Parts: sequence; C-alpha cells; structure tokens
Amino acid sequence: MSYKNTKKSSKGSPRSSKQGGRSGARMNAKSTKQQKPDFTKAAKPVKVKKPKKTAADSEHTQVIQWYPGHMTKTKRRIEKDLKLVDAVAEIIDARIPISSRNPDIASLTTGKPRIVLLNKCDMADRSSTAKWVEYLRSENVRAIPVDCKSGRGVDKFVPVLSELLSKRIESYKAKGMINPTMRVMIVGIPNVGKSTFINRISKKNKAVSADRPGVTRGNQWFTVAKGFEMLDTPGVLWPKFEDQTVGERLAFTGAIKSDVMDTELLAVRLLDLLKELDTPEFKERYKLSDDDLKMQSYELLELIAKHRGMLISGGEPDTERAAYTLLDEFRAAKLGRVTLELP
Ligand code: G4P
Repeated sequence: MSYKNTKKSSKGSPRSSKQGGRSGARMNAKSTKQQKPDFTKAAKPVKVKKPKKTAADSEHTQVIQWYPGHMTKTKRRIEKDLKLVDAVAEIIDARIPISSRNPDIASLTTGKPRIVLLNKCDMADRSSTAKWVEYLRSENVRAIPVDCKSGRGVDKFVPVLSELLSKRIESYKAKGMINPTMRVMIVGIPNVGKSTFINRISKKNKAVSADRPGVTRGNQWFTVAKGFEMLDTPGVLWPKFEDQTVGERLAFTGAIKSDVMDTELLAVRLLDLLKELDTPEFKERYKLSDDDLKMQSYELLELIAKHRGMLISGGEPDTERAAYTLLDEFRAAKLGRVTLELP
C-alpha cells in the first residue's frame, strides 16, 4: 500500500491540544505542499522560519520547530570526513524516502559517487520500493532496498559500490597503484538504521585498520570487502522541517520522538492516511468495517479505543491511550507494509 499526498485532512478534532514541546518542537496541523525529491542536484538552503501566528493557529494546530545548535559543527565534521572517502552511502527510510533525508546531503556530497540505501524495506510496500529504485535510477542514482535488521539486500552493497567506483579504481591502477583501497562513508538522519547497517556489514569483516599517516586522528576504518573500507562513524544530519508533513511522517515512523507533539492529533493524522491506504491488517487489527473507515478520523480513534476496551471512568473512550497504541503498532508494522511517500 502506498500514499502519495496528504491533501485531505480530518475534520474530526482531538478534544484538547497540548501545545509546545520539551525540545521546542511543535507541529502544525495545517496542510502544506510536499517537498519534491531531489537526489542529484544540490539542494537550496532552507531557513527554518518561525511560523507567524494566524487565525488558523487554533487549539488544534501545532508547528514543529527545530533549531539544532550543533548542526554547523556536524556539517563541518562531515565535510572534513568527506575528504577522506571515495563514495557516500546515504541511508533513508523506505517508508518515507522524502522526509527521511536531509536535503543538505546532496550539496554536502556534491562530486562524490553516491549510493542510496532504502532501509527498513521490510516495513515498506514492495511495489512502492520498486518504484523508488526505478525513479532514482532514472535520476542516475543507484539505490538498493535493504532490511538491515535481517540483513536482506545488504550483500548487494559491495557489488554496487564496486560498479559505481570502477572508473576510479581503474584510474588509480593506471597511475600504478596496486590494489587501491576505496573508502566509503555512511550518512543519514537519526534512526534510519545507520548503526544497524554498519554493525551488520562489519560483522563479516572485523579487521579494523587504524589511523593511517596523513589521515585525521580518531577516525577508525574497517574493511567491508577486499579493497573497500568504511568509516565507522556515520555522518548524522538532522531532518529538516520546512514542511509540516515531514515532521508528522518522521513522528509516525518513530524517527523523531512523538512525545513532543500532541499524540492524539498525530494519531488522527495517521488515521487520515490509514483510512485511504485501507490495508487488511489495519482493518483486521482494530475490527473495522469499510463503513467505519468513512468516519472522521477522531471518531475512528474513539471507535478503536472502544474496540480495544480502552475506556476511562464513565465509559468514555480513552483516545490518548488508543493514540499511543496506534502509533506503536504502526511503527512495529502491525498495520501492514506501508509507504507514505511515492516518487
Ligand atoms: P541510526 O544509527 O541511524 O540512528 O539508527 P539505528 O541503527 O540505531 O536504528 C534505529 C532503529 O531502527 C533500531 O530499532 C533498529 O533496530 C531499527 N532498524 C534499523 N534497520 C532496520 C530495518 O531494516 N528494518 C527494521 N524493521 N528495523 C530496522 P530500535 O527499536 O531503536 O532498537 P532495537 O530494539 O531494534 O535494537
């Protein structure tokens, strides 16, 4: 199942809104245009603007704001490390390939051969993942669907890397270098599975080569295959929230903590999508009929609470508990394999 756009929104409203957040992050329920994916060209720098207060800022709206103070420092470190590598492997979440990538990665890595790893494909819709691979190929970007948790697809990494760097390897050899070593760096936003990938690929080859002369102290490399080394520390960039749907989708998948947002509102947003996706797992799990899916999303949340026996005193549905359950179960892929963004 896949979902292309979130133009529709629920008219059903949560009873209350817990504005603000512990990390200064808030979400706006207002719908905005989805950012176009661009995996090849340098992304334009985007400033995170403070939202102006408008009449639309009712009790049912939230706005995500994120001011990562250490962003510049991180970018500088990545830029420094990039000088040491021949290629970059960018890990994104196959369920949200647009929202789970920082657009700065394209500009930061300009000129470096790049592989995109569509991770967590075990939780994404198969045909949508295939569409992403096709789309990226049409943009001259090599993409590999992987499930780093089980290891599926990870074995394709070295062959693709070797193909990508074949000209570079040949040119080194032409310059007289025998068995040149190619180095690669992993980049991505938090929680996309960078560590899981590094651990998985390093398990096969534990040989760790220490710092070499002329190379930044502190960097550790490990061999992933003969002639290929990987920097053991990935480049971590924060996601960008120039579009409120990005924040929502990152919260749905658990890439960012949802406890800084209104959980009920987030669940209502997710229900807007799940109603359209209409996966059998979703209906089955919450015992929903086709008619139930025609309800406003907040009413549907109430129904889910009732079906699960989540009631507060007086027999009222405990929508907050139902919201947490819905989000947890979506993140655990218990509601089916779902892709929320298509090329
Ligand atoms: P990061 O380094 O990019 O921050 O991400 P990390 O590897 O820590 O992975 C974040 C979470 O995503 C982990 O779950 C990890 O197990 C899970 N994960 C990574 N790759 C995949 C995948 O291909 N499929 C699935 N289903 N999950 C994946 P966690 O709950 O935070 O930790 P854990 O309890 O699994 O150890």
